[in-house]
Amino acid sequence: MTPTGTAARFTPAVVSSTSRATFVMNSKKSRADPLVPQSEVSVSSYADGEVERTKVAVGSTTDASIAEAETVVPLSNAVYNTLTPTMKNFSLSGKVVIITGGARGLGNNMARACIEAGAKAMVIFDANQELGDQAAAELHELTGIPVQFAKVDVRDGKAIEDAVNAVVEKLGVPDVLINSAGIADSNIPAEKYDHTMFRRLIDINLTGSFLVAQTVAKTMIEAKKPGSIVLVASMSGTIVNYPQEQSCYNASKAGVAHLGKSLGAEWAKYNIRVNCISPGYMDTALNNVPALDAQKAIWKSLTPQNRLGAVNDLNGLAVFLGSDASAFMTGSNVIIDGGYSLY
Ligand SMILES: NC(=O)c1ccc[n+]([C@@H]2O[C@H](COP(=O)([O-])OP(=O)(O)OC[C@H]3O[C@@H](n4cnc5c(N)ncnc54)[C@H](O)[C@@H]3O)[C@@H](O)[C@H]2O)c1
Repeated sequence: MTPTGTAARFTPAVVSSTSRATFVMNSKKSRADPLVPQSEVSVSSYADGEVERTKVAVGSTTDASIAEAETVVPLSNAVYNTLTPTMKNFSLSGKVVIITGGARGLGNNMARACIEAGAKAMVIFDANQELGDQAAAELHELTGIPVQFAKVDVRDGKAIEDAVNAVVEKLGVPDVLINSAGIADSNIPAEKYDHTMFRRLIDINLTGSFLVAQTVAKTMIEAKKPGSIVLVASMSGTIVNYPQEQSCYNASKAGVAHLGKSLGAEWAKYNIRVNCISPGYMDTALNNVPALDAQKAIWKSLTPQNRLGAVNDLNGLAVFLGSDASAFMTGSNVIIDGGYSLY
């Protein structure tokens, strides 16, 4: 689950002429400075009414990908109380969050982020019993907050209903649902796609997203409780990937994105928001298949940021969409892909 890079750090490799002075703007002087090529970048940091000037050698900053956090720091009440009103809006303080596919990968990382953003309880629904149990135990051990795991296959309506009822009974009506469970098939030409495989993928990615969203929304509607539902689609619902052929996955994710818009429109009257995250290529186990190694080089080269997304690159967006900071947002499909879909 650990991505390739190391923690992004801003390392001032050359720190010369560091000076502390009273905060004085000097824009004319900086406009006269030569722009290209630069071997170092002048950085002015304004704090406490002072300016600190440092020089950073070009190329000395690290790769932008970030290693998975080994610790999870829950947002304490004491810290929450010190936040400004704007930052409080960005938190998930007091909220019960369900994440499908939270046993590993992007879902697990979003679970970590939601706890750090103040979630009061975390629930993981996943088809993988062993990984799910492990993930729930680890999150509880690291944070002390209640974490529930239910072995749920998102194709199984009855299992979803039972698991959601158990959440309501133990933790209360959920506030946030993030649907990250999903599978991928790629490198299968459409003319050779096996019907059974095609139906199975649509059933997990699309029908599964609907069944979980519907069951959770029913509890919110009945309780007259506002809620936020976040579906995880893919940029593949908007663009057609290259070079691998994967018509079924692409169609399933286009379906998820449009399902999000449709549910957002229908459930606005119940104060339930539904938005969609559409990631680009992410460095997770889903893509950790030897057959994809050569293609990964092509994917990177077609991505302006020249990297795959790290496993925690969706975290900020997931927290934002779950929180009240996105209160006027529903039916949106946010593409987060390092710029891939720009070309
Ligand atoms: N990794 C990427 O490059 C990428 C890109 C775009 C979108 N996505 C989407 O993001 C989501 C998460 O992907 P990931 O990379 O973390 O994958 P992952 O395989 O690491 O994790 C997926 C999780 O979903 C669970 N799951 C699979 N089928 C299930 C089912 N029928 N019922 C319940 N749980 C099930 C798995 O057990 C696993 O824990 C998926 O929907 C995927 O399509 C991933």
